[in-house]
Amino acid sequence: MKWLSDCWRSSIGGKLTMAVTGLLLFLFLIAHLLGNLQLLAGPDAINDYAHFLKGKPALVWSARLGLLVVFLLHVVTGIRLARENKVARPVPYARPDTIQASWASRSMVLTGLSTLVFVVYHLLHFTVGVTNPGLFDQHTATGHHDVYAMVTDSFAVPGIALAYIAFQVVLFFHLSHGVQSLAQTLGIHHERYTPMIKTASIVLAVLITGGNIFLVLSVLTGMTGGQA
Ligand code: HEM
Repeated sequence: MKWLSDCWRSSIGGKLTMAVTGLLLFLFLIAHLLGNLQLLAGPDAINDYAHFLKGKPALVWSARLGLLVVFLLHVVTGIRLARENKVARPVPYARPDTIQASWASRSMVLTGLSTLVFVVYHLLHFTVGVTNPGLFDQHTATGHHDVYAMVTDSFAVPGIALAYIAFQVVLFFHLSHGVQSLAQTLGIHHERYTPMIKTASIVLAVLITGGNIFLVLSVLTGMTGGQA
């Protein structure tokens, strides 16, 4: 086990940890968005999906535990690498304008920690049900948890919709640079491909965060299918 912790503590081990955990979190975001797009099909689709998952507790809890470990590793390693970078270069560049680093790349810790705040709020809102218990605690005619009503009634509250949209903008900056760094760490780095990778990472970040914003706006504009 010592070799594993030595590997994690090394600079390249830390970067690899960020790349692998970042990739897994990115895949989670794609799967989560695809699941949530069922909101557009009306109450039955997403409520049946939630009911199906509830019937598989071993699967759901293993996935949750895995996600938690991956998420914590990503946050802790990211903070460690940022500290090490700061120690390695305690005095900032005299002329920051000469450094070709985008705002997104310089603000990864800020946008990452803001996303952490969003995830904690999001879990308290939709998974634990403590931020808006009245919106959370709704049931279908068959007595199952009404996930459709919980989400659509929540996004119909302008303050909640606005908070979700604002966090997606922050997440966009984090993902747009994260995907680029991931490619670089995995060795996909070439003069000819770098511009393509930059464009691809922006497109992927737009698809994920734009998809989430689209869902919030669909509820606000009454585009989601049918009534709960
Ligand atoms: C409009 C956008 C989103 C919607 C509508 C949405 C919806 C939901 C819902 C309904 C749940 C509760 C599932 C349940 O326990 O029944 C949930 C859980 C969760 N969401 Fe989201 N979500 C959105 C965006 C995000 C984003 C951007 C992230 C991450 C940055 C995220 C991370 C999570 C996590 C980690 C869980 C807990 C999964 C679990 O406990 O199984 N979600 N989301």
